[in-house]
Amino acid sequence: IPGHSSSVDPFRLVSSDLEVMANSIRSTVSILQHPVLDAAAAHLLSLHGKRIRPIIVLLIAHSAAPLVAAPGAIAAQRNLAEITELIHAASLLHDDVIDVASTRRGERSVNAVFGNQLAVLAGDFLLARASVALARLRDCDVVELLSTVIEHLVRGEVIQMGNGSSFKRDENDLFEAYMSKTFFKTASLVANSCRAVTMLAGHTKEVADAAYNYGKDVGIAFQLMDDLLDIIGTADKLGKPVLNDLRQGHATAPVLYALQQFPELLPMIERRFNEEGDIETTLELVKRADGLTKTRELATEHILRAVDTVVQTLPANDYRSALVNLANFALTRER
Ligand code: FPP
Ligand code: MG
Ligand code: MG
Repeated sequence: IPGHSSSVDPFRLVSSDLEVMANSIRSTVSILQHPVLDAAAAHLLSLHGKRIRPIIVLLIAHSAAPLVAAPGAIAAQRNLAEITELIHAASLLHDDVIDVASTRRGERSVNAVFGNQLAVLAGDFLLARASVALARLRDCDVVELLSTVIEHLVRGEVIQMGNGSSFKRDENDLFEAYMSKTFFKTASLVANSCRAVTMLAGHTKEVADAAYNYGKDVGIAFQLMDDLLDIIGTADKLGKPVLNDLRQGHATAPVLYALQQFPELLPMIERRFNEEGDIETTLELVKRADGLTKTRELATEHILRAVDTVVQTLPANDYRSALVNLANFALTRER
């Protein structure tokens, strides 16, 4: 793998930034002085996630730094990493309400502990705090990018609900809708945050585009692998139940690949697997059709492109190696 260096641990390279970020998030969130809402927001933030998004944003910031003289940019860039994590956390609070999820990251979800109303408000609160932090960057282009991301998250969620699915008849339409859902729901946040973090340091359009494309390809690959793990993973390792997507009626890449070979899947997809035996039959066909292998291959394609993008554009340093390693981690992770 070009640019790969086994000695570089992406997490360790930015661990001091992440510590600053954790403290900052704590003070960002605690201004509310409303014990219950504070606790609800803090509950989610305390369940340490993988923090993949801020790690990527920080690695891009450091890796590209030698290309431009922008002293002082790092503080704004750290704030952007925090904003990215806050928007993500807000979307998870709302997502668990929508999905009626009782667990998150192996613990009880905020909606399970505090109820739906507080979970929704806690999500709104984090989004509001992210908006204030965003405004304080005093960069209208960056504000526009991240605001568009929030719109994209909602659009992705609505596409996933299947509204308008009556127009999506054949397998190509379904795959196209799935890929645009994947961009809106998952890749847009990381892609646009990567672009924004280069803009904060005054990088060229070439660097900004490369950062965006890296974030987009890695984001899509992470979601493809997530959809694969939902079928082949274990609840133990994932910290959440498996086969969630099918149970919620979502046809993801493995199923849509299987559809190319087994048209009899179409009615099951259209009725969102809600009849007795639909899930079992679908799983059987997915395995027979190689839907799992094809999904992994598509994720690999995106990762190879992401690696190529940064190796072509960013200077060779440990941070760039970490970006390469992180991209490859998407393909091997088990949680
Ligand atoms: C997780 O997906 C959900 C998202 C990545 C985005 C959810 C977006 C919204 C609820 C729209 C509202 C947005 C904001 C900013 C308030 P999942 O349910 O497939 O994954 P999971 O297994 O982690 O629950
Ligand atoms: Mg969910
Ligand atoms: Mg969801």
